[in-house]
Amino acid sequence: MAEIVTTGTALRAAVQMARSRGLRVGLVPTMGALHAGHASLIDLARVRTDFVVVSIFVNPTQFGPQEDFDRYPRSFEADVALCRQHGAALIFHPSVEEIYPAGFQTFVEVTALQRRWEGERRPGHFRGVATVVAKLFHLVQPDVAFFGQKDAQQCRIIEQMVADLALPVEIVIGPTVRDADGLALSSRNVYLTPAQRQQATVLWQALQLGERLITAGERDAHTVVAAMRRHLATAAEAEIDYVAAVDRRTLEPLTRLAGPILLHLVVRFGATRLLDNLPLDLPAGEAS
Ligand code: PAJ
Repeated sequence: MAEIVTTGTALRAAVQMARSRGLRVGLVPTMGALHAGHASLIDLARVRTDFVVVSIFVNPTQFGPQEDFDRYPRSFEADVALCRQHGAALIFHPSVEEIYPAGFQTFVEVTALQRRWEGERRPGHFRGVATVVAKLFHLVQPDVAFFGQKDAQQCRIIEQMVADLALPVEIVIGPTVRDADGLALSSRNVYLTPAQRQQATVLWQALQLGERLITAGERDAHTVVAAMRRHLATAAEAEIDYVAAVDRRTLEPLTRLAGPILLHLVVRFGATRLLDNLPLDLPAGEAS
């Protein structure tokens, strides 16, 4: 039965006990409203480590003033049940004051990687993410931490933070879990109307279209992106935020496609932003 702890002190005591029994500690950070995507990370953590900690914390510092912090879906009882079903050993569910006590003023920024894409559209978002993840790493001191490919920029930012600050934690990225029709699972999918939910299949279709073109030999990023945009535009309520083919390490846009790349996109349906991406490994390009 997974124990639930709400304070850093209780968390540390429980983790220390596990460690003294020689167990390897895994951490799956989440904001709750858990679905099969989160569950897949808990499953992965169970395979790779012996004592799985799931943190459930809707982190206020990663939400902008006009964003959905107050109405972000919260379902703690169901989340606890899911964690237990998937064999989590410990659930860390701190209050905002526990993580950000009065007078809190220290933040972590991963400067270049946070500049574009989600960082550009959500100023301060990745500063909040990096800060809370760094704090969770210090509180839990996991051997391994697990993140989802679904949030590709978040993954790169955390990997970079770990490298830059020499944090003693291994980062493992789990694949994106999708509904049967290809839509990436997201806690925000509940905001979609039935019509929008149907149209939202264009995201995965566009990524697959991009992959098909590249597999057939297309190496011009603009051609691939233009075809993906045309497909997204077939959904009546879809408003494209961005579609790009980027270098998977730097997340900078490419003109010629080569090496490890990422096709990524964000589409808005009303006020709901949906993210998706597809990593692809192409042969290295000719030196230029
Ligand atoms: P949250 O959106 O709850 O996601 C928690 C983890 O689940 C993230 O690593 C995310 O990439 C992963 N995830 C979400 N949907 C997924 C899917 N369909 N398939 C696989 N993995 C999926 O991301 C956050 O919370 C926060 O920013 C956090 C890292 C917890 C910091 O507050």
